[in-house]
Amino acid sequence: MVTNVPFVDLKAQFRSLRDEIVPRVNAVMEDGSFILGPDVKRFEENFAAYVGVAHCVGVESGTAALQIAMEALGIGAGDEVIVPANTYIASAIAVSATGARPVLVDIDENYLIDPSLLEGALTPSTKAIMPVHLYGQVVPMDAIAEFAKKHGLYVIEDACQAHGARWNGRRAGSFGDVAAFSFYPGKNLGAYGDGGAIVTGDAALAERIALLRDFGQRKKYEHLVKAGNCRLDSLQAAVLDVKLTHLDDWNAARRRHAVAYDARLREIGIVPPKRLSDQGHVYHLYVIEVERRDAVIQALRERGIATGIHYPIPIHLQPAYADLQLGRGAFARTERAADRILSLPMFPELTEEQIELVGDALASSQAFAIA
Ligand SMILES: Cc1ncc(COP(=O)(O)O)c(C=O)c1O
Repeated sequence: MVTNVPFVDLKAQFRSLRDEIVPRVNAVMEDGSFILGPDVKRFEENFAAYVGVAHCVGVESGTAALQIAMEALGIGAGDEVIVPANTYIASAIAVSATGARPVLVDIDENYLIDPSLLEGALTPSTKAIMPVHLYGQVVPMDAIAEFAKKHGLYVIEDACQAHGARWNGRRAGSFGDVAAFSFYPGKNLGAYGDGGAIVTGDAALAERIALLRDFGQRKKYEHLVKAGNCRLDSLQAAVLDVKLTHLDDWNAARRRHAVAYDARLREIGIVPPKRLSDQGHVYHLYVIEVERRDAVIQALRERGIATGIHYPIPIHLQPAYADLQLGRGAFARTERAADRILSLPMFPELTEEQIELVGDALASSQAFAIA
């Protein structure tokens, strides 16, 4: 079947960047500095400056970024970390990988962790809270900071879906003790493979993080702590450094597409995504709610339009987390969302015609919730 509207279009993005990217990639290969070379350092400096923090350490993925950030803070076995129930499983898996326990909390009407439920999740073992800036929208950080301060907790931002997103004028990643980013190819800032970064304003913490990503060594063959290999490679750093210069334009394009989708959806009686009034959203995902979702997906598929669900099975209902012993009903908002949410195609290169096609297909499906 012909794809008229892909979910993301990485090929279109590469075509527009080829002349910038290929020379940078060639230069890394000519130079031969593949591991922690000057390209990694340059990207780390540029990304830290972009986020508005002093330090950035490149790592192999967003999951590794979260895990190392927590390990560097001393979080491990016997500790608990508060995590939203509605997020990609990596947020919780990173906590589990440190030996700590993720304690899930339900979401608010914007699909973000509900600050009013935090006190109920607190125990003497709670060490940290992980706000997840899901779909490209920053969690209102005042309530999180107040809660963390009151109870002496660390704040670890999961900014894996929020490159460049703002709240109160500041960028995602600049609020917590530490923050993690993913550069998975489909992210707003994506590599040509896996990649991630940890950002922090704390120099001593950045130093520990740098040890943990590279065999615990500051000097070659001198290993200060037991740690493995979680490095960002130079080829990915070179790609990311080029792409970073386009990120604001791409995010602006995503916002324009969201405005166009909003208008089209209202015309056909579908409620546009719920979100905060703040304009800092970067629409990593454009998520609507529909009744009879399967029928809507099918109607769009028949017209060559791809969709996604982020995420269809909440963490507490995943077999991997059966040990949490939380059945259906534990997090009503997260479960209701999981049954109804639908992510529409969203990427900077999306055209007006493609948005029209999506709108027409939704209108014809007649299977959505009327406002
Ligand atoms: C919210 C969230 N956290 C963590 C991750 C993990 O990132 P990665 O896939 O780079 O390990 C992702 C993305 O996959 C994510 O969307």
